[in-house]
Amino acid sequence: MSVKARWLGHAAVLLEGDGRKVLIDPFLSGNPKAAARPEEIEADMVLLTHDHEDHVGDLEYFLKAGAVFVGIHELAVDYAEKGYAAEGMNIGGTIEVRGIKIHMTHALHTSRVGHVVGFVIEFSDRQIYHAGDTGLTMDMKILAEFFSIDLAFLPIGDRYTMGVPSAAVAAAWCGAQKVVPIHYNTWPLIEADTEEFRKRLGEKAVILEPGGTIEV
Ligand code: NI
Ligand code: MN
Repeated sequence: MSVKARWLGHAAVLLEGDGRKVLIDPFLSGNPKAAARPEEIEADMVLLTHDHEDHVGDLEYFLKAGAVFVGIHELAVDYAEKGYAAEGMNIGGTIEVRGIKIHMTHALHTSRVGHVVGFVIEFSDRQIYHAGDTGLTMDMKILAEFFSIDLAFLPIGDRYTMGVPSAAVAAAWCGAQKVVPIHYNTWPLIEADTEEFRKRLGEKAVILEPGGTIEV
């Protein structure tokens, strides 16, 4: 069964597969490039890569609406204390939430609480990687050992994350079949050249506009 992935702008991604909706880093209300308002999106679970505001965004809106929080242990404790359904985990672990397997990966970046992470979301026959905010890290090679990634979302905006040259190497290391660049052009500070990305990745590159979808 295929998976439909919709880039909502910045690092926000909605995955639909196996009858479930998995939302990652739901920064919509304050996002100048958001493709949707929170009220237009439904989610069974929300995966949070870290607690920077350009990732947390409308998280509590979705938790109030019944989505399960999935994230690093320390943040899961915080959201559970607020009364929300929360599944905590840590890097290297895999859990199953509402029938979807979620593997937590290392990301090289900072946060206020807990560690910054990425996720491999394992649908029944598709594996999707969301790298979170990260610099290039050798850990991405590990992913190719254990997963067969059909689609990856990699940051390319530079300054706070990888830029295009690093993301091109990350794409090769993680072994993804297709790569959608994210975390760029939201603000002038993180402008990126998608043509350069396309040149380096060739047919693997999938350049979307915010709101754009790809089915894998
Ligand atoms: Ni960040
Ligand atoms: Mn960020």
